[in-house]
Parts: sequence; C-alpha cells; structure tokens
Amino acid sequence: MIIFQNKIMDRSEVSIDIEDRGYQFGDGVYEVIRIYDGKLFEMEGHMKRLERSAGEIELSLPFPASEIIYSIKELIKHNNIKDGHVYMQITRGASSRNHPFPDNATPVLTAYTKEYEENPSATTEGIKALLADDIRWLRCDIKSLNLLGNVLGKQKAKDNGYDETIFHRGDTVTEGSSTNVFIVNNGQLVTHPATNLILNGITRKVVIDLAQNMSIPVREEEFTIDELLSADEVFITSTTIEVAPVTQINNTVLNDGKTGEVTRKLQEAFKNRIS
Ligand code: PDD
Repeated sequence: MIIFQNKIMDRSEVSIDIEDRGYQFGDGVYEVIRIYDGKLFEMEGHMKRLERSAGEIELSLPFPASEIIYSIKELIKHNNIKDGHVYMQITRGASSRNHPFPDNATPVLTAYTKEYEENPSATTEGIKALLADDIRWLRCDIKSLNLLGNVLGKQKAKDNGYDETIFHRGDTVTEGSSTNVFIVNNGQLVTHPATNLILNGITRKVVIDLAQNMSIPVREEEFTIDELLSADEVFITSTTIEVAPVTQINNTVLNDGKTGEVTRKLQEAFKNRIS
C-alpha cells in the first residue's frame, strides 16, 4: 500500500497525470525518512525541512504536517515495516504545460515505504569516493526533485568503480551526491556550512550534536580538496548510510584504508542514538 493525497491506497489504483509538474519540470520537493524498529527517526527535522523546501519554491503543503505524519505512521503499521525508509514527495500538481506556476493546480502528495532486507549502512565499511565538479544549481539547500546533477555524479562514480562522488566548487569541497562530507583533523570535525551550496542533512545535524556531546569540536567551515585528501579521517553521512567512513578518494588511500578512531566513535554513538 502507498499514500496518495493522504489516503492509503493500493499502488495499482494510483494514477499520476501525464502533465504533473513533478513529472515534467521536477517541480516539487521530497524527503527520505528512516524507519528503525517501526518508528520514524528524526521525523520532526524531516518535516521541518520539507516545509522549508516547499516554502522556498512557493509550494503549499496540500495537508497539514500533522495529518501527513499521521498517515505515514498508519502506512508503516499497515505495511508492517520494521527497518526501512519512507519516501515522500509533493509536486505542484497537474496543469497544461507552461513554465510559470499554474493558478489552479492541486499539489500532489505521494509516499511509500521501503523495507530493508539488510541495513544499507552495514554494507558501507570503507567507501571509495570520486571527486567531481559540482555542476548543480545554486539552491542545493532545497530538497527538490531535480536531481540530475546528483544522478550524473553518482553514475560517474559507479562507472569508475567508486561508491560515491564528492563534489567540489573550484577548490572548495561541498558535499556528496547524496551525502554530507566531514573531515577529521587532530580530533576536530570540519564540514561545509549549511549554506545554499549543500543540503542541510538531518544525519549531519545529528552527528554534529553527538560530537558536541562527546566534546569533539565541530567547525562548520569550508575546506579544500587538499585538506580533504590530507585529512586524518573522512566520513560521509545520510539517512540511508548513517555514518560511513571514506577510505579512498580518487587514488588516495586514507588512514591505511581503515575506519578512523573518531569516525568509529561517532558510528557507535549514532547506533546508541537510534536504539
Ligand atoms: N539524500 N546531501 C544530498 C545531496 C542528499 O541527497 C542527502 C540525502 C544528504 C543527506 O541528508 P540526510 O542526512 O537528511 O539524509 C546530503 C537522500 C537520502 C536521498 O536522496 O536518497
């Protein structure tokens, strides 16, 4: 079962208009929320970010956030999901194709659950990352459906035998194609500030919070490719992979190909946080 306009329905009964603006323009926003033991993780943070993303593209949520949360919880129960995620998107709806916002379109909400057979973070011991030019637009803070730059980045990594692409604008490292990037130097974390050039990851925020509680200093500052390649440790974060060590970037092997001490501590703290 899935959610269509806040109703739980059979997937085969849902039809999306061929002129839905999400389909034609990528005109919409989305969230991926992790489910641990049947419960939504950091749901409030995700809903706030969804509301912010929608606001930034002048899209109103078709239902109050509290109603959306209620339906998603019902869907998780209905589909009996223990570990997995919920994907949710809102588009500006269907209207005769024309670039400006239509006057009368109804936003379309869809959501579905995905169950994990294996925790994706369990398969991410030692990520290999490829550096690539950040060719995306200048509003990466909006979790928009337009993901072509990210898709091309991830494909480039895959084609070359890597797991993830780490983007840079000029000399400055921004983020991964679907992850945030942290470096560790002398026991301190550095990550790109939450500007328009990155998505302000929910996992990023959780990790910053955990680090501060563990008295690990965190600097939200720009860092360069050189600093990335010469860091003591590098790790990436996201809803699906949690905290994953990066042990190779292009041809450079980091930390002898092993998970660093600080990364390991944060992985452990993250595990405790979700259980
Ligand atoms: N991606 N940066 C980008 C570009 C992302 O797409 C994501 C998440 C993140 C990490 O954000 P969070 O910690 O809130 O998941 C950073 C999701 C998982 C996706 O598109 O599948």
